[in-house]
Amino acid sequence: MLLDISEIPKVALERMNKVHEEEIKILNQLYEAIEEFQKGKGSLEEIDKKFEEFFQDVLKHFSSEQEMMEQYNFFAYPMHRGEHDMVLGQLHSLKKRWEKEKNPEMIKSYIEKEFLPWLMNHIQTMDTVTAHFLSHFIRD
Ligand SMILES: [Fe+2]
Ligand SMILES: [Fe+2]
Repeated sequence: MLLDISEIPKVALERMNKVHEEEIKILNQLYEAIEEFQKGKGSLEEIDKKFEEFFQDVLKHFSSEQEMMEQYNFFAYPMHRGEHDMVLGQLHSLKKRWEKEKNPEMIKSYIEKEFLPWLMNHIQTMDTVTAHFLSHFIRD
């Protein structure tokens, strides 16, 4: 397992916490599929499937936050969106390289060294401030 669900920092909006939980669940499954493959079990197809699921989930995660920020005119929307866009750029090039090279280690090391540390920091900073702001308008 990459990360226990209980280790995800909590923000003031439950619907955002749920999205983060779901993302870590999918990320754990992708990570597990890679570890299985590296142990000589599992398959590249399984990794491919989980990677696509992860990719789609990140798109949904980011756009759900962006919709709320736009709707309620969040003051730091461009900054928050800038962080999302930066990671989407990384994921797009990772996806391209994956399709060409099919090297699971590449995805694994990206998740460990880039995506997860970034996400933890992003939730504790951008998402925390955003959720606090939105919680004045949205009840969940
Ligand atoms: Fe988030
Ligand atoms: Fe975010």
